[in-house]
Amino acid sequence: MAKNKITYICSNCGVTSAKWVGKCYNCQAWESFEESTPKTSKASNYSSSDIKPIKISDIKKDLTSRITSNIDEFDRTLGGGIMPGSIVLIGGDPGIGKSTLMIQICENLLDSNPLYVSGEESSGQIASRAARVSNKLGSLQILTDTNLENIIDNITSTNCGLAIIDSVQSIHSEVLNSPSGSISQVRHCAYELTQVAKKSNVPIILIGHITKDGTIAGPKVLEHIVDSVLQFEQGPNAQYRILRSVKNRFGAAGEIGVFEMNSSGLSEVKDPSSVFTSGTSKEVGVAFSASMEGSRAMLIEVQALVSQTSFNYPQRQATGYDTKRMQMLLSVLEKRMGLKFFNQDVFLNITGGEFVSDPGIDLAVVAALVSSIKNIEIKNKQILVGEIGLTGEIRPAKFTQKRIEEAARIGFDSAVIPSKDKEISNLFKNIEIKSIERISLLPHCLF
Ligand code: TYD
Ligand code: MG
Repeated sequence: MAKNKITYICSNCGVTSAKWVGKCYNCQAWESFEESTPKTSKASNYSSSDIKPIKISDIKKDLTSRITSNIDEFDRTLGGGIMPGSIVLIGGDPGIGKSTLMIQICENLLDSNPLYVSGEESSGQIASRAARVSNKLGSLQILTDTNLENIIDNITSTNCGLAIIDSVQSIHSEVLNSPSGSISQVRHCAYELTQVAKKSNVPIILIGHITKDGTIAGPKVLEHIVDSVLQFEQGPNAQYRILRSVKNRFGAAGEIGVFEMNSSGLSEVKDPSSVFTSGTSKEVGVAFSASMEGSRAMLIEVQALVSQTSFNYPQRQATGYDTKRMQMLLSVLEKRMGLKFFNQDVFLNITGGEFVSDPGIDLAVVAALVSSIKNIEIKNKQILVGEIGLTGEIRPAKFTQKRIEEAARIGFDSAVIPSKDKEISNLFKNIEIKSIERISLLPHCLF
């Protein structure tokens, strides 16, 4: 009897309730509950009765290699390519370039007969976008449909090697009464498509809309169902885009890919360090570091402005960096180096518009602050890598070597690293490496 009872589900976090409530008791969202119609018996084509436990030794290991799209910036975010039978969710603001990226992936994988399912745009719109991106897309199969059951039939009958669903919020299943885009539809459609991908070994990429606060519409449960979640975001300048892996069952999360949108689609940015810094010029209050984004080191530029305050309370403002961490570093500088910031406004900016939470750039933040308060520019083109503790000690950051390699590649001629990382200095010939133990010794390295 409980089977046919209507339940309510929060469209924000996915918790269920027997009654409709105005405010979610779990995530505190208002008016987020909607009806979740129970599935009928034909809800899934895949009955679980024929699945029995098996011994791990009897399992045929899945040694199939990944499908590489030859767009390195995309393949990297998935850990080296698309896993056969996997389901990937890609989210991003409208107009960011999700459909364009997918069309380009189809272009590179045309030999595997991809199927592009569009529930949003007409075939004419897709064809005109395709024509803008490439003239080789004539044989790409387009299906403009929103019916899940029909889409699944086509995925299995067309023998496609990859299916793109643009978008998961636009499709609906006949077995549910709720409208497309509702939480129960999105969840059900994603689940059914996952079953198809696993059974047929055809990878499926779902495009997902995002809500006002930047999360993928259709709650966290959607992220649990799929194998990988990629976020497509605006980069530091209008033309740049960053593809970030938020979840990946087949590789490391946190990997990023950088693209540039131009008149014929997205092109890869192979050298993102140049995008995130304005150059290696020497100026008062400017210091450089390299932050780790997944397994990739990226050069960043820290700018600090310390100037006498005209108010009772000095201002503390950080852009692209945690203001509280900056305040902590200011206190360390006051206590361990005797610098006085109490009557100074302090502004900090990580250029490029990216938020950096990597503590490995602490040393560069401190160097920029010291340079600005002393009004002396940092000599040499140097990069600073190290985490700072409350006692003023400089601790090793993760992957120091990778960061220095990136700086050397861009043309930096010196680096300041923690003493504990000293042994890596033998690995570098063209870059002078200074190692320091305590923050009080920093001015000797900077000026
Ligand atoms: P689109 O892929 O439709 O975005 P999404 O699917 O994420 O909504 O991209 C739309 C934007 O990209 C639109 O503003 C036009 C721009 N664009 C270009 O600048 N160059 C191109 O070659 C293409 C295809 C799109
Ligand atoms: Mg689109």
